[in-house]
Order: sequence, then structure tokens, then C-alpha cells
Amino acid sequence: MWQQKWIIGNWKMNGSQSANRQLLQALLKPVDVAAAHVYCGVAVPNVYLAGVNEFTRDTSLAVGAQDVSRFAANGAFTGEVSAQMLADVGAQFVLIGHSERRQYFHEDNQELLIKLQNSMAAGLLPVLCVGETLAEREQGQEQVVVSAQLDVLASLGMREVVVAYEPVWAIGTGKVPSVTQIAAMHQLIYQQILSLCGEDVKIRVLYGGSVNAGNAAEILAVPHVDGALVGGASLQADSFAAIIQAAY
Ligand code: G3P
Repeated sequence: MWQQKWIIGNWKMNGSQSANRQLLQALLKPVDVAAAHVYCGVAVPNVYLAGVNEFTRDTSLAVGAQDVSRFAANGAFTGEVSAQMLADVGAQFVLIGHSERRQYFHEDNQELLIKLQNSMAAGLLPVLCVGETLAEREQGQEQVVVSAQLDVLASLGMREVVVAYEPVWAIGTGKVPSVTQIAAMHQLIYQQILSLCGEDVKIRVLYGGSVNAGNAAEILAVPHVDGALVGGASLQADSFAAIIQAAY
């Protein structure tokens, strides 16, 4: 899986039991056909995790969560879902620090460090999301911002690191950075991870933000782009399948 391209769908707060079944039904064949070349997954709302996991058992589609509690395994934290619980219902990976979490829930590196630690302790593979806002890019601050977000990896001793670069201004907007902009940022992210985690770390850096069936091949061909984190286009089987196909 560390040599393959990764295509991960982030369903965000979308879906229903019947819509999920329909979507998955249509996806399982293209996912299995691609399995030798592409690691495919879906990050689903917690409430659907067990059902999706049951439905995709014995297939090549990995199932993950979109967030995790910063609190411990169990306890008096009403409404929270711990990393152990996510793993218990079949999550294999978890998104950490998605820009929507940073924006709406004010998550910062201090909180994300704990979420990363909790995820690792529970055996979940964290996918750390980073990215600058439009204002930060317009001020030429994108590299500083992303570097500071990556600093959370410094003390973790991770041997395997998955990062998703999602410029906030590209999420759900149809705007995509140029190939040159993506290449420059992914190279920076690689360098930063190597310097924070050591030369022998395994790295996957995904691009996210308005990836669709039409632009996936070009984006996935950019150096240091190891896959894609897909929002809107992952909710339709034909577009998600086309993105998977563009990855090999
Ligand atoms: O996590 C995926 C994401 O934020 C990108 O969303 O809809 O622009 O593909 P979208």
C-alpha cells in the first residue's frame, strides 16, 4: 500500500443507509479491479462506520473516520467517540485536522497532537490534513502556514506518515491550484516530513480540493502527488470510479 496511489473519498456529513449501500454497490467492482495499483478508501460519518464496514468486508475498500475525540478510550465525555471505538467498528484510518474542523471547531496543533496520539495508540492510521486559506496564499504565506501545521508531527516518532494537502480555497469551489503550485507544495511537504521524522519514514502525500473525473489524471501525474482526497466527487459512483481509474 505504500507504493500505490491512494484515492480516499471524504463523504463529509452526507449519506443515508440506502444511499450508502447504492454507492458502495457500484464502487466495489472498480475498487477491486484497481486494487493492485490503487489503495482506495472512504471516510464516512461515524454513525455509518459499522454498516459500511460490514458491507465492504472482504473487499479492497478501506473504511475510515473523519475525526476522532481528543479524549481517552472511555469516560464521561458525552457525545464523543474515541479512537478505540472507531477501530472497534472497523475504521482503519482517520482524517485529522481537516480544514473544516480547523475552521468550525477551532482545532489547533495542540489538540491535533492529542488526536494523532490517540489514533496511533488505537492502531488507526492518521491522515493529517493541511492547507492554507486564500488570504494566506495571497500574502505569500502558504509555505509558512503549511510548515507550521506539519510541525505537529515532530515529537511523534511516526514511521509512516500520510498527509493530505488541501488548500482551503480549492475545497468545494471548483478552483484548483496550478500543477506548478501543487508540485511546489508537495515537495515542501515531503522535505518537511523527512526533516521532522527522519530519512527512513514512509510517506504518502495526497492532494485534495475540487478533484474530479476531468482533472484527476493531470493532478495525479504531478511529482510527489501520491493520491487524492476527494470530497464532492466521491459521492457519485461514476465520478469516484473515474478518479480511481485515473490513478493507474
Ligand atoms: O477532504 C476532501 C475535501 O475537503 C475536498 O472537497 O469537494 O473540493 O473535493 P472537494
